[in-house]
Amino acid sequence: MSWREYWNADTPIYVNERHRTLHYQLVGRDLAALVPGPDAVVLDHGCGEALSAGAVAARCRRLYLCDGAPLVRERLAARFADTGNITVLAPEEVPDLADGSLDLVVANSLLQYLPHEEFTELLGLWHAKLGEDGRLVLADVIPHGLGTLVDVRALLGFAWRGGFLGAALVGLVRTALSPYAKLRSELGLTHYGEAEMVELLRERGFAAERRPVNIGHNQARMTFVARPI
Ligand SMILES: C[S@@+](CC[C@H](N)C(=O)[O-])C[C@H]1O[C@@H](n2cnc3c(N)ncnc32)[C@H](O)[C@@H]1O
Repeated sequence: MSWREYWNADTPIYVNERHRTLHYQLVGRDLAALVPGPDAVVLDHGCGEALSAGAVAARCRRLYLCDGAPLVRERLAARFADTGNITVLAPEEVPDLADGSLDLVVANSLLQYLPHEEFTELLGLWHAKLGEDGRLVLADVIPHGLGTLVDVRALLGFAWRGGFLGAALVGLVRTALSPYAKLRSELGLTHYGEAEMVELLRERGFAAERRPVNIGHNQARMTFVARPI
């Protein structure tokens, strides 16, 4: 099984409904704050369930939600059927967007599931689709050497603040015994160093820097903001 296949099903990543809701609220709030203005056209690549995409769509002219999993896209299309400025896309449809037509591209918690070559191909695609003043935001990027324990600690902190600590403890055991853990040990996750990412982006035509604060709850992971040069 590949990571892309893994995501095309219900996964135990969220320990309960409250965790799922709080996660997407936090991500939605952070993404909405990145929208440059009401006329902006935004692409959320690898958007997942995007439960709070309505908050992002309310701040921009058009929001493209792109996800690799057909099941996720089906649910997004149903959830946002009445939100006129949200369009759900398969990754294969992103090349059809007009060159230079996007103001903001965000990929949150996606890169770790992509082989390095797929990521570098995507950089070329995003570069072509972004306008001159556009921004690319790569978030929740896992640095080299960051172990599972740090993720566990961050989740427990989030759960403590969010009032779902008991469910998180049970959920951690469930995740450790789930196909996610098996796949993580078989396929691994893709990691990047801070300087390595800035250099990679430079080679692909972006000027980039790491933001002091990561999107989402795990501050051991990294967010980069890049502009086409
Ligand atoms: C960890 S989830 C992140 C979801 C969301 N961005 C968030 O922050 O909660 C990763 C998502 O990326 C999607 N994905 C994985 N590989 C992809 C690819 N090659 N192209 C587009 N989406 C992909 C998965 O289907 C999954 O929904």
